[in-house]
Amino acid sequence: MDKELFTSVDNYIDDLLGGDEDFLDDVKASIRSADMPEISVSRAHGRFLHLLARLCKARRILEIGTLVGYSTIWLARALPPSGKLITLEIDSSRAEVARENLERAGLSEMVTVRVGDAADTLSQLASEQIDPFDLIFIDADKQGYPTYLERSLELSVPGTIIIADNVVRNGKVVDGDVTNESILGIRRFNKALATTPELSKSILQTVGTKGHDGLAFAVVEESGKR
Ligand code: SAH
Ligand code: DHB
Ligand code: MG
Repeated sequence: MDKELFTSVDNYIDDLLGGDEDFLDDVKASIRSADMPEISVSRAHGRFLHLLARLCKARRILEIGTLVGYSTIWLARALPPSGKLITLEIDSSRAEVARENLERAGLSEMVTVRVGDAADTLSQLASEQIDPFDLIFIDADKQGYPTYLERSLELSVPGTIIIADNVVRNGKVVDGDVTNESILGIRRFNKALATTPELSKSILQTVGTKGHDGLAFAVVEESGKR
């Protein structure tokens, strides 16, 4: 693995394409000052999520795992003025920092940060009979991924796009000796994705500043078609 090379190429892409200069510094500073982990999506992945939201003309987006709102801002910026994004975060201090970042980015009207364990907040959303989402981005604790997929399907309609971050984890996903709950959660998620008949799906490996990982993509089809 040539981590240095991957990082250089990510830097090249970032310099070439940019597009987040107006909020990147604020967001990164808020992560560092609060001593939070630097686990937001990379800039290139942020751009890519934005692109996918544009491609599917998303009007309603659900994000599971907010941190301080970096991916949230990229996704929300793809919405039309009447669009809506709900993002779920278990840690109330992270949610508070995210709200501040979203305010600075001028997105407070469009985005709601809901605090709680996503397993619960997703059930709440389903019981509120909220309108289905056009795009769902799963990026919270990895043990929870199988549950988040199940609940996401309840909040979907045919055409909904489901994306999940971190589904390769430096290739640990193929290591049979792994006992780590996060990796086991990812493996269960990938298996569930594979065996859900109403989903068309793929998994792409990625390299970059965050090392070797992967993104899963699925679209909800009419029942049983793929
Ligand atoms: N999507 C963000 C990064 C999210 S990091 C970005 O790319 O900018 C994952 C987040 O999920 C963390 O902030 C963590 O606190 C949150 N999280 C962990 N377990 C959770 C749970 N059970 N429910 C909701 N959020 C959770
Ligand atoms: C971790 C979580 C993420 O969402 C990510 O993109 C990278 C790392 C983590 O919990 O280690
Ligand atoms: Mg992630």
